[in-house]
Amino acid sequence: MDLARLTAWLDGIVPPRVPELAAMEAQAARTGFPIIGPACGQVCYLLARIAGARSVFELGSGFGYSTAWFARAVAENGGGKVHHTVRDHALSERARTHLTALGFGELIHYHVGESVQALREADGPFDLVFLDIDKTGYPDALPVIWGRLRPGGLLLADNLIWSGRIFDPEDASEETAALREFTRLVTHDPAWAATIVPIRDGLLVARLTDE
Ligand SMILES: C[S@@+](CC[C@H](N)C(=O)[O-])C[C@H]1O[C@@H](n2cnc3c(N)ncnc32)[C@H](O)[C@@H]1O
Repeated sequence: MDLARLTAWLDGIVPPRVPELAAMEAQAARTGFPIIGPACGQVCYLLARIAGARSVFELGSGFGYSTAWFARAVAENGGGKVHHTVRDHALSERARTHLTALGFGELIHYHVGESVQALREADGPFDLVFLDIDKTGYPDALPVIWGRLRPGGLLLADNLIWSGRIFDPEDASEETAALREFTRLVTHDPAWAATIVPIRDGLLVARLTDE
């Protein structure tokens, strides 16, 4: 099966986005900025909605595209907070402009700095944590996420397939090694019930135990 074709088809069945969100997609396509895209955004929105999430913490939020999907779910779940974190001040400002235009201004808390450190310092617990930072940072982020999610909370993490490099025996890069280690940690720990949904670049979906 042709994966690029599948991804394009899955993106194509997502309902049309409001103009501001569509403009963010066009901007990402034009500049090559790595956003989760419509099909993965729709999965994130659905999972947050199904889980009834009202407090979401994002690690690696970019210019706010993934944040917008979570903010929509939180708004429809009755309101709450979505934490946007990115180390680049200009990206944070761009996100603020977009998310305000989308009508989510009141829902978002902006942190500029290192995302894992921001999570350490944040008041939890959170219903849902979304991980999309530099891939080498994934394994060390896990215990911090574990400590900030509520029992039964949801962890979503992007890029677990890493364009297929994850199962390429020749690939020994730091990023790939970190993603393999992260996958091993989550899938071998009985505290998590986890799988990887092979949408776009692979979305890890993991539920923290109630105990
Ligand atoms: C993949 S992009 C985020 C895309 C975003 N989640 C979306 O789908 O719209 C990751 C962003 O997080 C930033 N970043 C990476 N690692 C980070 C870290 N440890 N702390 C803060 N920001 C980080 C990157 O500079 C980049 O802007």
